[in-house]
Amino acid sequence: MNTGETLIAGPAMGPLKGSITVPGDKSMSHRSVMLASLADGCTEIRGFLPGDDNLATAQMFIDMGVKIEWLNDKKTTLRVHGVGLHGLKKPAAMLDAGNAGTCVRLMTGILAGQSFASTVTGDASLSKRPMQRVADPIRSMGATVTGEDGGNLLPLAISGGKLKAIHYVSSVASAQVKSCVLLAGLYADGVTRVNEAKPTRDHTERMLPLFGQPVAVAVDGTISIEPQDRLIAPAGVVDIPADPSSACFFAVAASLVHGSDIRLKSIGINPRRDGWRRVMKDMGAALVLANEARVGEEPVADVRVSSGGLHGMSVKPDDVPDAIDEFPVIFAAAALADGEFVLTDAEELRVKESDRIAAMAAALRLAGADIDERADGAVIRGVKCLRGDVDVDAHGDHRIAMAMAVAAQCADGEVRIHNAAAIATSFPNFVRLAQDVGMNIRWADENGL
Ligand code: S3P
Repeated sequence: MNTGETLIAGPAMGPLKGSITVPGDKSMSHRSVMLASLADGCTEIRGFLPGDDNLATAQMFIDMGVKIEWLNDKKTTLRVHGVGLHGLKKPAAMLDAGNAGTCVRLMTGILAGQSFASTVTGDASLSKRPMQRVADPIRSMGATVTGEDGGNLLPLAISGGKLKAIHYVSSVASAQVKSCVLLAGLYADGVTRVNEAKPTRDHTERMLPLFGQPVAVAVDGTISIEPQDRLIAPAGVVDIPADPSSACFFAVAASLVHGSDIRLKSIGINPRRDGWRRVMKDMGAALVLANEARVGEEPVADVRVSSGGLHGMSVKPDDVPDAIDEFPVIFAAAALADGEFVLTDAEELRVKESDRIAAMAAALRLAGADIDERADGAVIRGVKCLRGDVDVDAHGDHRIAMAMAVAAQCADGEVRIHNAAAIATSFPNFVRLAQDVGMNIRWADENGL
């Protein structure tokens, strides 16, 4: 057995306490390195998430001639020597996105605007995820995208250059699709417009103006980008707030473990990422904001969480895109809440790093939860305690592994979570921070113990 593959978690030995800072936001870290690479001048980025996904994005730009200096050992501060919108060099080999969907989908838009052809690949999980959603709009802008299954699956070969401006009406609520089109719009011959199926995270729209590129959002939700000749490195440092998707694991753990009281410092509370807090509050969680502030264009606050009687509810469809990455751990909360929890309109969960509805249903059921899968969500009836001494499969999906580690805190014995190494893609120090607040969790040793 490889160490670092199996997590052993639970049960909690006492209340969770403490004040922690989770790492930088994954979505913003990707965008910061992309825009900094395409800008004229040097950009310093602080609070960067040094997860494998974001390092894959940085490596792609290094492979295309961008110099990136890491200013500390933890790789959370970096200086990117931007080469300008037209300064990237043709990479010598395939670009590798690893496990990162955001990387590959946003890069499709950027690569479509280059004067050279390139090919992007990824790991086994990413190679099963749908790319048609970005291939379609990029093709209608005049680029060529080819790949397995008619360009739906990696590796994707992309060539373009000067692109046609389009008005794209997206049928899927996806910030990755929206951002891909907006980034391709930097290379278009006029104003590119996007309408979304439902509003999604708007980090691209908030960050582009820091680089001198205005983005307009009309009252009907139409987002427009009129390309400038260049992006300009910001005069000040680009600061990345702490990731709400990472904070949510601890918020659920503290809500569930009796007597807990923790503070999560300076978390992003952008309304398009704050669905988890709305859902948790609707479930009766005790969440209090303090020290509200701004980091760059993004609102942040400390979130204090104490344990409290969670109950079931029906998630409002409009909250779904704003909490899309948090549902695995919200399922863990629902499995231990009073009454029935119902999630609908969330079929997108089936095409994430794993089929998250199936993966969570299987793992929670093994641990004694009462959960029915639906095509677009789940119905979960809470139980008092989960079953320990079970083996569950995280399917190489970071959020399934961390969600089950949280659920295990309320089991009556240890839960062994296999295929958990992918935690490093988004939250490399998860286990240490979890131990810091008192969660019972460790990596299995070479004997699986
Ligand atoms: C992301 C958008 C979401 C989210 C992903 C990050 C982004 O994906 O699930 O983790 O940074 O734009 P979709 O665009 O597929 O909804």
